[in-house]
Amino acid sequence: MATAGITGMSGMAFSCSNSSSTGPEDEGSGAEEEMVSANEDLMREHGLLQRLMLVYDTAVMQLSGGGEFNPALIRSAAEIIHDFIEDYHEKLEEEHLFPRLEEADVLRDLTHTLRKQHRAGRGVTEQVLALTAEGNSPGGDELNQLIQSMRSFNRMYRPHESREETVLFPAFKEVVSEEEYASMGEQFEEIEHQKFGGEGFEMMVDRVEEIEKQAGIYELDQFTPRVD
Ligand SMILES: [Fe+2]
Ligand SMILES: [Fe+2]
Repeated sequence: MATAGITGMSGMAFSCSNSSSTGPEDEGSGAEEEMVSANEDLMREHGLLQRLMLVYDTAVMQLSGGGEFNPALIRSAAEIIHDFIEDYHEKLEEEHLFPRLEEADVLRDLTHTLRKQHRAGRGVTEQVLALTAEGNSPGGDELNQLIQSMRSFNRMYRPHESREETVLFPAFKEVVSEEEYASMGEQFEEIEHQKFGGEGFEMMVDRVEEIEKQAGIYELDQFTPRVD
C-alpha cells in the first residue's frame, strides 16, 4: 500500500547543539558533580533510546499512511542510535555487565540473546543509514524497506530494553560488590567523557529534542488522551 512520499532532504544538518538552554552545566564546574549509579546511567540511556524510537514510530505511521516525513530526521535519529546507543551504551553492557553475569553463571541464555540482538540492531541501523544517505530520497521498494527496518528495530528494542531493566540490571547489581558497583558508575561516566568529550548524555538529549521539534513530537501534552 505504501507508495508514500518522503520530503526532500532540505539541508538539515544537525549540529551537536550543545546549547545552554536545558542541560545541566557542563565542565564539572562545581564541587559536587552529580553521581549517577551504573544502573541509573544505563536506564536513562534507555530513556533516550525510547525518544528515538518515538521518532521512528512517527515516521512509520506517517510514511505507511501515505504521508511525508523528512528522511534527514530519520537519519539523525539513526546516527545517534549508532554513535551513542550501539557504540557506547551497548558496549558498556557487552564489556562490563554481561561478562560479570557470565562469570557468575547467571542469566546466560539472556545475555546470549541480548548480544545477538545488539548485533541485529546494528545491522538494521546500517540499513536505515544506507537508505537515508545524504541526497537519497527513498521511494517505492526502498521506502518500504525503510519502514520495515524502523518497525523491526522498535519491535526488538522495546522488549530488549525492558528485559534489561527488569531482569538484567537488577541481577547485575546482585552479582557485584557494593564497592565495585559504585566504582562502575564512575567508570561509565569517565568513558562517556572520553568518548564524547564532555557530557555526552546531555549533548545527545539536546540533539534528540531538536529532532523532536522538527518532527512535531516535542510537545508532550499532545500524547495525553482526551477523556471527555
Ligand atoms: Fe542491550
Ligand atoms: Fe541497554
